[in-house]
Amino acid sequence: MLDKVKSLISEVENAVAKTEEEVENFRLRFIGRNNIINDLFEDFKQVPGDQKRELGPELNKLKNLAQSKLKELSSSIGTGRKSSGDVDVTLPGAYGTEGSIHPISQVRSRIIEIFERQGFNVEDGPEVDNDWNNFTALNFPENHPAREMQDTYFIEKNPDILLRTHTSNVQVRLMNKKKPPIRSIMPGRVYRNEAISARAHCFFHQVEGLVVGENISFKDLKNTLYHFSKEMFGKDTKIRLRPSYFPFTEPSAEIDISCFICGGEGCKICKQTGWVEIAGSGMVDPNVLEYCGIDSTMYSGFAFGMGIERVTMLKYQLDDLRLFSENDIRFLKQF
Ligand code: DAH
Repeated sequence: MLDKVKSLISEVENAVAKTEEEVENFRLRFIGRNNIINDLFEDFKQVPGDQKRELGPELNKLKNLAQSKLKELSSSIGTGRKSSGDVDVTLPGAYGTEGSIHPISQVRSRIIEIFERQGFNVEDGPEVDNDWNNFTALNFPENHPAREMQDTYFIEKNPDILLRTHTSNVQVRLMNKKKPPIRSIMPGRVYRNEAISARAHCFFHQVEGLVVGENISFKDLKNTLYHFSKEMFGKDTKIRLRPSYFPFTEPSAEIDISCFICGGEGCKICKQTGWVEIAGSGMVDPNVLEYCGIDSTMYSGFAFGMGIERVTMLKYQLDDLRLFSENDIRFLKQF
């Protein structure tokens, strides 16, 4: 075996190549997957111990020699990696296709940022929840229309498991695990069994807000949303609270902002009224506090729910909700 190795060493040392094919043949014989040197290393395992001492170094020498010889042969005929001198710097570059952040994500981040600066933290909750968290603990009367099949996607009936219809389910979960003071916002996706149109979709996004503590009043609700509106839509923005109804708040109010497009004069976006609605809100109904194990004689709170699509459409003057979920690059790359 030693003779064989020695003769291969001299074969490698004397190898010459004039063509790429000859280099390739050399590579296949000495370096490629089934090369002859590997076979020798296999045979080496069977060699008696005393012969190994002499044979080992020769085998390694052969292996190293073959590798350096391949480099030498390749460069002598110009194969192998080209040097930078071969790059044509006048060719146009290859541009990467860079994505952009979805407008809904951008607006969600902005909303979070504004509330975080007012001391809110961000909480999360599941999109699949039970009837208790989505309806019952929020004081929905047994026969409330929102529980009917046309509004809610049910996953299981009795006991009811459903796709949440609003982010208010996180309020319930939060109050169950954390006692006041609470000052949180809860962004997330919600689902409703609605026909898809420019104004309605079967899924969309909301940001829920909840503040619970001692002596929390309607004044705090108004101030918080006033500050938010000015930050989001500009410092001249005014807000207006209209009486409304939600099962989980008492009193309840719809929040409008002065139309920042026409400055209140009346335009298409505000339907000539000078005001646009951005959120539902109210003082947390004492029943809800009690359902969630919070003493309503000690604590009070306010809550609000805002549609992220709605805020985004106002901010960018969009008129079709479907654009957000169609993944049309011509639309998305404008943001
Ligand atoms: N959950 C309501 C909806 O989806 C929005 C809402 C209104 C949330 C008033 C609230 C609230 O927390 O106080 O239409």
